Amino acid sequence: MLKSDTPAALFVRAMVFQGIASRGRSLERSFAFRGWTMSVVPASRVTALSGEGAFEVLVAARRLEDAGRHVVHLEIGEPDGTTPPPVVEAAVRALHDGHTRYVNPAGLPALRDAIAASLAWRGIRAGAAAENVVVVPGAKPMVFYALLAVLEAGDEVLVPDPGFPIYPSVVRFAGAVPVRYPLDEVGGLDAERIAPLIGSRTRALVLNLPGNPTGGIATTDALHAIAELALRHDLVVVSDEVYGRIRYDGRSDSIAALPGLLERTIIVDSFSKSYNMTGWRLGFGVLPAALVERVTTLVVNGTSCTPPFVQLAGLAALTGPQDSVTAAVARLERRRDWLVDGLNGLPGIRCTRPTGAFYAFPDVRQVEERAGLSTDQLAALLLETHGVAVLPGTGFGPGGAGHLRLSFAVSPADLDLALERLRECVSDLAVASLTDGGIHVGP
Ligand SMILES: Cc1ncc(COP(=O)(O)O)c(C=O)c1O
Repeated sequence: MLKSDTPAALFVRAMVFQGIASRGRSLERSFAFRGWTMSVVPASRVTALSGEGAFEVLVAARRLEDAGRHVVHLEIGEPDGTTPPPVVEAAVRALHDGHTRYVNPAGLPALRDAIAASLAWRGIRAGAAAENVVVVPGAKPMVFYALLAVLEAGDEVLVPDPGFPIYPSVVRFAGAVPVRYPLDEVGGLDAERIAPLIGSRTRALVLNLPGNPTGGIATTDALHAIAELALRHDLVVVSDEVYGRIRYDGRSDSIAALPGLLERTIIVDSFSKSYNMTGWRLGFGVLPAALVERVTTLVVNGTSCTPPFVQLAGLAALTGPQDSVTAAVARLERRRDWLVDGLNGLPGIRCTRPTGAFYAFPDVRQVEERAGLSTDQLAALLLETHGVAVLPGTGFGPGGAGHLRLSFAVSPADLDLALERLRECVSDLAVASLTDGGIHVGP
């Protein structure tokens, strides 16, 4: 066992302590009012919400950079590169043409039309029209609104584990109960692992295909089996398809295209990942008719509308040439292979090849066990001592333990540097465990 006062152990303890301390500080914020210090106690409703690890690690990484350190950023889920020029030009034109005022809360008719027409690539050729589309600032608000619109207190909602942490967070906010369902060995969907979790309180099933953080998909058979479960148990399906066009198997699908499913599915999507538009904040939902008016009312209460010049940029993205999307997917596939092969070359790391999205989700349990570190501690060590920002899989649910999430939507030079630093980290830990019998952390 490495003595508890060795530099590595002291460092990891300091990291863990810092994390706890900064979380505590944010809760204790208070402000002075006419000489009194008044503590503001947040409502339990908002304390039910949790944040997103990606943004927390980004802030920690930026702090290191401000202190002069170099960091390779593999933590944040956004493509490198820029928004396609025709899309930027459409927005600039729209601004000059005065598209700067409030508009229809559900979205501009032209964009709603284009979104409805674009559903064909997912296999949906009938049954959903512009009236089923509600435009919002990103996919996240639609996840939020969709769940708020369908859940009653005490309802149970099936969410993927590991999965995007916003799902359980919003489910709790709505007063409902997230029930995590496990994925298969390659991070894909397996109806047999979902079926036993369905009970009389189960109201909704959240799907995310391809999934964050695993990049897993559902085979055609699995998708049919899950659709059958949804029909049999009268479930609402929230299908988050933000990575739907970033697939390396040449397929595109949606559970909503299967018989009887469009009527009970809310498709959530955005322009963020496919068109390099994460900062524009443009997304949408395709909803069963009964929900459109309620979700539009949520939009009125939340944001009034989505900026019209941003919507016109989205219209240009959707109706213009799609070669930038095809080229981006081909580029990402090469980077995926490079990173996955590199990770599999490191001792103690095993990584499956994701079928979609742009994350590698390697299994690092052997490294952790040898060094006596938890997943969070390994991620903290990688950032602080080796300058590689990654996300611990635990941020995606208990099913993510023993894994790290690495985005490969970064330059090849950054991937090389990250692999070199990972190699260093793994070999430093191996040396430490040989000389000291492992790194001992905590009490
Ligand atoms: C699964 C999933 N859904 C939704 C989002 C958010 O998308 P947007 O930026 O369009 O709100 C993300 C972003 O990382 C994601 O991974």
